Amino acid sequence: MKIEAITGSEAEAFHRMGSQASHRYDEFVDLLVGAGIADGQTVVDLCCGSGELEVILSSRFPSLNLVGVDLSEDMVRIAREYAAEQGKALEFRHGDAQLLAGMEDLAGKADLVVSRNAFHRLTRLPAAFDTMLRLAKPGGAVLNCSFIHPSDFDESGFRAWVTFLNQRPWDSEMQIVWALAHHYAPRLDDYREALAQAARETPVSEQRVWIDDQGYGVPTVKCFARRAAA
Ligand SMILES: C[S@@+](CC[C@H](N)C(=O)[O-])C[C@H]1O[C@@H](n2cnc3c(N)ncnc32)[C@H](O)[C@@H]1O
Repeated sequence: MKIEAITGSEAEAFHRMGSQASHRYDEFVDLLVGAGIADGQTVVDLCCGSGELEVILSSRFPSLNLVGVDLSEDMVRIAREYAAEQGKALEFRHGDAQLLAGMEDLAGKADLVVSRNAFHRLTRLPAAFDTMLRLAKPGGAVLNCSFIHPSDFDESGFRAWVTFLNQRPWDSEMQIVWALAHHYAPRLDDYREALAQAARETPVSEQRVWIDDQGYGVPTVKCFARRAAA
């Protein structure tokens, strides 16, 4: 059975790993730059975890209106503490990415709705894409990057994943989390279908799903869509 939220000591371990390896966010930040992120925009990060991406983005784009949302109260607490330690005034909310509840005020307002390395944990993938598209303003973009099942890897992708796991630069608890993450991740076609389903509810002008590595060798799926302009 999938467990969606990351809590307790696993949340603490995740934060230790993420805050010590900010380069792992480089590729995702580059994707956001490609998607047009710019100072002054409203950006919502679903399944934000312990706030590493928010701290990185707010250093690079100091006047972003940035809201991070996570299902784990532990993650939200750690993210708030981490942002305060880093001297950043950032907003984090407790909420489920598969529901608009608690984010109604942001509906149709976000220039960019993003999610990194989390949608493979979800049980209702179409609902999560639906939330993303509902939060985006007309013409706004959504971008998810998350894991795929190993059967969707090509051979070089599989080798890259094994090499990555074998590097073990963090503690054993996180090692198991990462190994399992790909095994219970959705298939590429599940992502395609979920995004297409959500896009029928909220029309989009662009839609793309593709696989590549994450800058440090881990194969991931990327899902991009742009809400149709009003
Ligand atoms: C592997 S972490 C990634 C965190 C962050 N996006 C990053 O890249 O550092 C996955 C996060 O998704 C959160 N999560 C899982 N299911 C969720 C849901 N239904 N709604 C919101 N957050 C969720 C977990 O609690 C966890 O913090």
